[in-house]
This record gives sequence, structure tokens and C-alpha cells, in this order.
Amino acid sequence: FFACRKGAPREAKQRKKAEKAYGGDVTTIMLTSVPVAQFAKVLAPDAEKVGTLTEPRQFNLMFSTYIGATATEDDKAYMRPETAQGVFLHFKNVVDTSRVKVPFGIGNTGRSFRNEVTPRNFTFRSREFEQAELEFFCHPDESLAWYQFWRDFRMDWWKAIGLAGENLILREHDKDELSHYSQGTSDVEYRFPFTAPGFGELEGIAHRGNYDLTQHQKHSGAKLEYFDQERGDLLPNGSRRGERYLPHCIEPAAGLDRGALALICEGYTRDESRPSPEFLKLHPRIAPIKAAVFPLVNKDGMPEVAENLYNDLFAKFGRSGFIEMDAKQSIGKRYARMDEAGCPFCFTIDGETLTNQTVTVRDRDSGAQSRIALDAVAPFLLEKLA
Ligand code: GAP
Repeated sequence: FFACRKGAPREAKQRKKAEKAYGGDVTTIMLTSVPVAQFAKVLAPDAEKVGTLTEPRQFNLMFSTYIGATATEDDKAYMRPETAQGVFLHFKNVVDTSRVKVPFGIGNTGRSFRNEVTPRNFTFRSREFEQAELEFFCHPDESLAWYQFWRDFRMDWWKAIGLAGENLILREHDKDELSHYSQGTSDVEYRFPFTAPGFGELEGIAHRGNYDLTQHQKHSGAKLEYFDQERGDLLPNGSRRGERYLPHCIEPAAGLDRGALALICEGYTRDESRPSPEFLKLHPRIAPIKAAVFPLVNKDGMPEVAENLYNDLFAKFGRSGFIEMDAKQSIGKRYARMDEAGCPFCFTIDGETLTNQTVTVRDRDSGAQSRIALDAVAPFLLEKLA
């Protein structure tokens, strides 16, 4: 027998392998339909020979560790597989102390740990990774509209940092893919070079209903209902009676490592006609180095003008990214270095700057240079980074 997973993508290839090894005498069966007693006769999915299939085993996808020096079973702890539960745990704390009103969201970034069976593809699937999650709490009647809002908003955000185009899709889950408590889930997916022609998940946007708050309420014994003073019947004095409810939650949950990997894959460009054929076409909004300032030569008053410009740009844009200054090596090498690092604009101080207060702007993607006034550099950059 040759067993495969339902709809396994490599079914045809594996079947051929099995036919070669067993003289064409093979029958394809679904793995789920094979009784354990027959396992010895089965060529398992991705296996090289018959008889390697083991009985089903429990996989624990959570990382465990021990807290405390004695390391007994009582000291066992599990590392979080998502950052979300910390937010649910703090829901009441935030409502009681920060005077927020529903709808509101609590955002969170941090490490997550999963005992992935097949970590691979650079940082795409790893056992320790960074997540950015938002738990957005709203009234149950408005939850579907908020779900649609976040789904579209998050897709637009990925486009706004440079992943627009046919490599990016928003995929709504089919009913049978949804968790039992979810009223809807969509994934933002990117076509990575190693998933092509398929796509890999970047972010999930899930309508989690009030499942999590219900569970925390049940197991902690703490009341997590929200009292909404702006709802309920209108009273004779013009105020509302109020309504008590467990908010529903919309959760956009993104993988930051996957996001960075997608941006690098999208930005990596080869152009053999350029002196340095590789460059990183990052959107100016996301480029870690926002601009570079070069004195054409390291003398004749140019370094001083460059330093002034550098200080001005650093004061204005230093919080959104790096501003570099480089006076060493040929100007071509300096441009090439910035191209590879994804820096979108280089400003060069040359002889003309000293006479007419203009500089050259070099565009990373086209290599084109133009002249602008020295005092137009900051407004130019502001417009490009917006
Ligand atoms: N709280 C919901 C949640 O954790 P998830 O879809 O399991 O949802 C969110 O994870 C995102 O985290 C995924 O869309 C993906 O980008 C990223 N992610 C999940 N597992 C990962 C792994 N093993 N390595 C890197 N990123 C991962």
C-alpha cells in the first residue's frame, strides 16, 4: 500500500517512487483509513521504505520548562505560543484603570514559542518568533462590521509599506477552516520565493467572538463584563439605562519575522546593467536608512556643509530611521553601499553647492540624479516618507 495525506501535493511523485520500489504493485489509500495492524505494509507519506510508519503519537506544540530550582512536575510551566492571552488577562485591569470606552483595542508585540514540527524557510517558520497582535473589543452587534474594517485596514497597511501587487492576497477562510468560536477569519498572504506559486501567511485577522473573555471569566472567577453607559433604553432624564455585555474581539495577528522576510524578498532586485547589480528596493516608509549625505570630496568646505545637512536631517527624521553620513571611498561605491542597504535617497554636496546652495539627489531605484536647493532637502524627504 502507498498511503498519502488527503490531497497531498506530492502524491503523484510519491506514488511513482512506490511503484518503482515495489514493481508497480501498489494501491493508494488514505492514511486515515489504515488500521494500525496494517501499518507494517504501508509506505508512509514522505518515507523511503515500507514499515516505518509509527502509531499515532501526541505532539505537544507548546514549549515546557521548569520554574524554580527543584524542577519537579509542580514547577512545570509553558512558554506562550501567542501574545494574545496576556491582553485578555489584562482586559479588566485596562477597563478599570484607563477610562477607555468600547470599542477600543490593546496592542502587543513580543516573542512567541511553538514546538514546530518542521521549522524551515529562513525565519518563515521558527520555534521562537516575534508577533504583533491587536485585541480589538467591540459590541457584539458591531463586531462583523469591525471585522471587515480590520481585514481591509490591515491589507492596506501591508500595501502601504511596499507589498502591493500580485504577490499579496487577502484570503477569506472557508467555513470548515474556522475555529469553532470564530465567525470569520482572513489571512493576508504573500507569495514568497519558496512558496511560489503558492502563498504563505503573513497575518491572520480573526473574529474571535467572546470566546477568550468567556474562558478567562470561567476559569478565574472574575467578572469580565463591560458596562456600556451609552447603550440601553433612553431614560426620561435623557441618559441611557446602560447595557452589560462581554465584548466581542477582532484580532489582527501578524508575524513580524515573516513581515521582514517578505519585505526583503519583495525588495531584493538584480539589475546587471548597474555598476553594482544588487539593490534593495524598500519603500522609503520602511527603509531603516532614510537618507545618506555625502561630501563629494572630503575637503574644500564640503564636509562642513555635509555635516550641517546631516545634523538638520538627523534632528528632523532621526526618530523614524537612520541618516547616514559617509565621506570615504569613491562616490560610486558609496551609492552602491546605500543601494544594497535599501537607502532610498542620497544627497551629495559638491563644488556647485558652495556657489549656488544646491545639492544632487540620487534616487536609489532609477539611479537618476537631479539638483534641488539645500534648504529643500528636508521638505523633499518629508514628502517621500509620508
Ligand atoms: N493569536 C493568534 C495567533 O497566534 P497565528 O496565525 O497562529 O495566530 C499569527 O499566528 C502570525 O504569527 C501568523 O500569521 C504568522 O505570520 C506568525 N507565525 C505563526 N507561527 C510562526 C512560526 N512558527 N514562525 C514564524 N512566524 C509564525
